[in-house]
Amino acid sequence: MERTFLMVKPDGVQRGLIGRIIARLEDKGFKMVAGKLIQVSEEQAKRHYAEHEGKDFFDSLVGFITSGPVFAMVWEGDDIIALSRMLMGKTNVKEALPGTIRGDFALHTPHNLIHGSDSPESSAREIANFFEAHELVDYDKSLSPWM
Ligand code: GTP
Ligand code: MG
Repeated sequence: MERTFLMVKPDGVQRGLIGRIIARLEDKGFKMVAGKLIQVSEEQAKRHYAEHEGKDFFDSLVGFITSGPVFAMVWEGDDIIALSRMLMGKTNVKEALPGTIRGDFALHTPHNLIHGSDSPESSAREIANFFEAHELVDYDKSLSPWM
């Protein structure tokens, strides 16, 4: 079973889209194992976006993700890293297809509503950046055999 770090970005929180974004992940059959509304610190933001350090948009990325609260989550499911990124849609909103979260709700690329880990390595690193081990809840969903 794979885990991923998903985060409704400040634009999604301000626009009142937390519930609808979570609904899409629940509809697909994934299981939330942790979730909280937090203000990301600058240090946390820089660690989160370390792969983009040095790029010209790095400062604006850190500024954006710290500009208001985010809803940070850990989700679980088979192949969830690839599948949740499909549900999210392409980073560039001009390429994000209708039916995806970004395709349906996002108009401009930096404000693309949701973050999702892109590999098992980044998932482990990102979860550790935002959650303590005890915040992750271990439980079974009775519907999982039917998914
Ligand atoms: P995240 O889930 O947010 O990590 O998106 P991603 O994995 O689809 O994209 P990536 O990690 O490559 O980029 C992280 C974020 O940086 C994106 O969500 C965009 O908001 C922003 N970003 C990426 N590329 C560019 C760019 O060329 N210009 C600007 N202004 N922002 C960018
Ligand atoms: Mg990324």
